[in-house]
Amino acid sequence: MECFVRPPGIGKFFPSVRPHSLILVALFLISTSRERLAAEGICSSFGSAADKLTAVPAAPVLLNPPANDTLRANDTALVWQSVDGARSYRIQIAIDSALFTVSVEDTSIVQNTFLSLHHLIGTKLRAGGKYFWRVIASDSVGTSCYSTVWSFITIPLRRFIPGALWCDTNGNLIQAHGGGLLYDDSSKTYYWYGEDRNASSHYAKGVSCYSSKDLCDWKFEGIVLPDSATNNGGKTPVVERPKVIYNDSTKKYVMWMHIDSADYSYAEAGVAVSDRATGPFHYLGSERPNNEMSRDLTLYKDDDGKAYLVYSSENNATMYVSLLTRDYLHQSGTYVRNLINESREAPAVFKYDNAYFLISSGTTGWAPNEARYATAGSPLGPWVLNGNPCVGPDANVTFGGQSTYVLPVQGRTGEFIFIADKWNSSNLPSSTYIWLPLQVKNNKVTIQWHAIWDLSRLRQSNESSEKEKHLLH
Ligand code: GAL
Repeated sequence: MECFVRPPGIGKFFPSVRPHSLILVALFLISTSRERLAAEGICSSFGSAADKLTAVPAAPVLLNPPANDTLRANDTALVWQSVDGARSYRIQIAIDSALFTVSVEDTSIVQNTFLSLHHLIGTKLRAGGKYFWRVIASDSVGTSCYSTVWSFITIPLRRFIPGALWCDTNGNLIQAHGGGLLYDDSSKTYYWYGEDRNASSHYAKGVSCYSSKDLCDWKFEGIVLPDSATNNGGKTPVVERPKVIYNDSTKKYVMWMHIDSADYSYAEAGVAVSDRATGPFHYLGSERPNNEMSRDLTLYKDDDGKAYLVYSSENNATMYVSLLTRDYLHQSGTYVRNLINESREAPAVFKYDNAYFLISSGTTGWAPNEARYATAGSPLGPWVLNGNPCVGPDANVTFGGQSTYVLPVQGRTGEFIFIADKWNSSNLPSSTYIWLPLQVKNNKVTIQWHAIWDLSRLRQSNESSEKEKHLLH
């Protein structure tokens, strides 16, 4: 079995390279042949996995030459196919033209098919630079196999890479799980609230907040509600799925979240309030809304200013939608039971063209399952449960994720981003996020998988569906 092959595309670089680069490429090839000899001996025990370890070029071309102020030059995404039997991956990258020194990253990336390089090698990459890379997969006994060598060109990180490690502007992994977003009109800023799971215990250490103007670069604003405020002296350590909306009359930011005991039997919804999007939030307490259990929840604020708490109730069997009081701090008493005995959770609600949509997951804890969407003519229903909106690999398990929010992109009618958590139940802080374009066409919701994408894709999908709508009328 040929385990390490000559880069198939390497010839095409020759016409454009300078003489000294040719020497460098040659050096690279010499060094790779040596590696090949070393690799051949071990490949047979790794079996056919080597055939599958063909790097998928994640971003081989510089798509939109970026303006300087929008550039995260030092980053790109490497994408490769998972290898059956692999327990860890390592990456080798030839950095800059200086001697083609191969930098070996020792970081083990277990079952990760996407990677932000920024996280691994900091600021060594240049914008528009061409680099060579390969992946080394190792099985449980440490037998390794090398992939083909590929090249990549650095791109600005104004792309979404579902499931990838995603760092904030300080280079730390974003901790905003089970979260929701708020667009703040006064500051023209998006805020992302979620569970900060970077804690020593199994539980979140509170609700975090990140801010962004472009949905790509996120600045950590801090913990806006620490778990010490919500855990009742340890009785209710669970603080999950925080969502924040702004009340135009009281001028307060209102957060609702799932508060629970370790065995999830407490099943209450907590509420907190702040004068500023970036907190601190003042915790007001928790309740069983409308005297029924409440676990996974979300908030939905309609165009008329009315807001609703949407929560999995009756031991997760039935979804409730409850109109909040005008200050959003209490239940109004008006509520409906929906999706009765359908066992749906992780609700995310949005509106398009006077129709309301509710995406939810099944109830399998941290393990992914099939998403479904429901439609209604009003937030109070009746809600009709439809099929799975996901399309693409692993669509039957929400691409490995679980819904948490649908974001209407500010100022762009009909453009939505579906947001899910890709939970890693054995290491919750390293759970990642799945952001994907969501499209509504003739009341049908579609969430199409893209390994890497940017906001212009939303506009494209939307324009084609608008065109079709006009043709139909
Ligand atoms: C999921 C829920 C998560 C978390 C988890 C705990 O069903 O959506 O938010 O509560 O269960 O097992």
